[in-house]
Amino acid sequence: MTTASALARLLKPVAALSAQMSIADVADRLLTPEHKAFLSLPIVDDDGRPLGLVSRTALQDIFMQRFGRDLRGRHAVQEVMNPAPLVVSLQTSLEEAAKQITGQLQYPITEDFILVDAQGVYRGLGTVLDLLKAMESRIAQRNQVLRKALVELKESQTQLVQSEKMASLGQMVAGVAHELNTPLGYVKNNVQLLRELSTPLFDLADAQAALADCLNDPNCDDARLHSALQAAADARDLASPELLMEDFGQLFSDTLYGLEQIAELVVGLKDFARLDRAMSEEVDLNDCIRSALVIARNGIKDKADIVLQLGDLPRIPCAPSQINQVLLNLLNNAAQAIDGFGQILLKTWADDSAVFVSLQDSGRGMSPEVLARIFDPFFTTKPVGQGTGLGLSISYKIIQDHGGQIRAASEPGRGTRFLIRLPRPQALPLQRSA
Ligand SMILES: Nc1ncnc2c1ncn2[C@@H]1O[C@H](COP(=O)(O)OP(=O)(O)O)[C@@H](O)[C@H]1O
Ligand SMILES: [Mg+2]
Repeated sequence: MTTASALARLLKPVAALSAQMSIADVADRLLTPEHKAFLSLPIVDDDGRPLGLVSRTALQDIFMQRFGRDLRGRHAVQEVMNPAPLVVSLQTSLEEAAKQITGQLQYPITEDFILVDAQGVYRGLGTVLDLLKAMESRIAQRNQVLRKALVELKESQTQLVQSEKMASLGQMVAGVAHELNTPLGYVKNNVQLLRELSTPLFDLADAQAALADCLNDPNCDDARLHSALQAAADARDLASPELLMEDFGQLFSDTLYGLEQIAELVVGLKDFARLDRAMSEEVDLNDCIRSALVIARNGIKDKADIVLQLGDLPRIPCAPSQINQVLLNLLNNAAQAIDGFGQILLKTWADDSAVFVSLQDSGRGMSPEVLARIFDPFFTTKPVGQGTGLGLSISYKIIQDHGGQIRAASEPGRGTRFLIRLPRPQALPLQRSA
């Protein structure tokens, strides 16, 4: 259905009148049942082009006067018609027609509007009421479309938020894999070394067992005893257990250290990725910072020194994996903002009402124009593939959901500081003693 045909559906094929017709005849016609719904009748010239509209009220005005009908009834209707009626071409769209008509409409509405074809020839009448009804249902239709679009938009936003989460998860997994690799590497080396170093010990044990056999054997002659003694002494020299003791001690403690690091990473990973049971958990934000650092360390260590100034914090109820996501995003942004090698300073403190985290980098900073937009979804200054522009808007939402605030201050060339404030639960009201 084209929009032009929408207007055609409003058309009522009312017969047009000639300008010479008398006022009385027109009035009679307007009284007939088929014209009841119309406020006016159209007048056209010999070629069928509209000349004007005669309205019910104009006729009424005449007939209400004393002797009105007798005095003017025989006059040509041209005398009382509106020579500048509302004329709309059938080619016009419904919206355009509505705009045109409501723009020229007189109140109270006393006339209908004339519909003409492309040649300007009269085709029929339309009533303003029908037009408004048609517009209303069209708007309702549009609303429905818009509502659907809104739902779809919300869905795709959820998906994008999810994909930003997955992207930071991917980054995190890559980082952790790298972090695991280092201790794994030397734990493996150490174990191989331990195996090599322990071989002479087994040889020594064998030689000593052979010597013991010989000593227990009454048939063991001097020559055999001598060579068994020699073999045991050689094996002892080779193995040199006194020296090995030191090496073994070192290797075992290094290996254990590596394994502890691996265990720590695994715990960190579990902490980081744990599914939050709502916001019920009471969390020390310093723990969140430490676990985010375990994950982000790999991406940062070549870009910046991390300086921690963590104060004593009261536990607050929050969703730790969400807070971790915020911290990870801030850390990644900070690292990405640093050219060469810089510093990231993390501070935490608390007052009576809230817990604060400040993250300051010595990166390239931002212009006021960029700073004003950083929390907007999809705002990014990074090349395609490197930035989604969602990190900070998600972070903003997370902090907001926690009842807190996140703010940024920045100076081009000097760095950027993010400040997070998370409220402490309302302190219990003081008990007054009676
Ligand atoms: N620490 C920072 N230093 C300088 N600019 C930053 C910093 N953090 C964020 N920005 C700016 O804010 C923009 C939006 O950040 P974000 O929402 O995390 O999206 P993304 O990192 O994907 O670009 C970044 O593209 C960058 O221009
Ligand atoms: Mg980011």
